[in-house]
Amino acid sequence: MDDFDAFLSLVSKRASCRSYLDKPVEDEKIRKCLLAASLAPSACNKQPWRFKIVIDPAERHLICSRGLLPGLPMPWLKDAPVIVILCADTSFVVHTIAPMLSKVSFHLVDCGIAGQHFVLAAEALGLGTCWIGWFKPKKIRQIANIPRSMHIVSLISLGYPAGPQQHRTKFTPENISIE
Ligand SMILES: Cc1cc2nc3c(=O)[nH]c(=O)nc-3n(C[C@H](O)[C@H](O)[C@H](O)COP(=O)(O)O)c2cc1C
Repeated sequence: MDDFDAFLSLVSKRASCRSYLDKPVEDEKIRKCLLAASLAPSACNKQPWRFKIVIDPAERHLICSRGLLPGLPMPWLKDAPVIVILCADTSFVVHTIAPMLSKVSFHLVDCGIAGQHFVLAAEALGLGTCWIGWFKPKKIRQIANIPRSMHIVSLISLGYPAGPQQHRTKFTPENISIE
């Protein structure tokens, strides 16, 4: 299998995982996911991503019971043995200036890339993930003690999948091309 086939096979296999086994994730696997994330590109190589790995059951319980926005129930999240809080260090000047000039939030782009590196590494290690954007940032900051200088970008659930994931329909390359 060449590099592209291996890559496409990995990205095709990934789908959001919303059911998890009651099985802890090995520290070594979490470290490998963080390693993959750390290799992501970033604007001016500032590498603003920071990952808080929440394993403690009481803290996870608080995130699930108080940290999510209403209207999109995520009962499955309580079964995920790990909740990752993906944050951006916003203290870099480039992150203040860039949105004024280019209208692009570099730190959000950077964290999106690093987060997906993390997610794909997890997939390669037999783990399931789901990006979670429907959270209350103030509550998450309080519960997980995230410093003010960090922008909370996303949560990502992590764990061993309890079964096969549902694969969603995707646009074709033609659909996503601008003529
Ligand atoms: C930024 C972002 C935020 C998301 N937030 C949520 C969420 O709060 N709850 C949830 O169940 N899924 C969430 N998702 C997962 C999407 O619903 C999912 O990626 C999409 O339906 C495509 O399915 P797939 O991941 O299986 O390809 C989010 C995904 C992204 C990228």
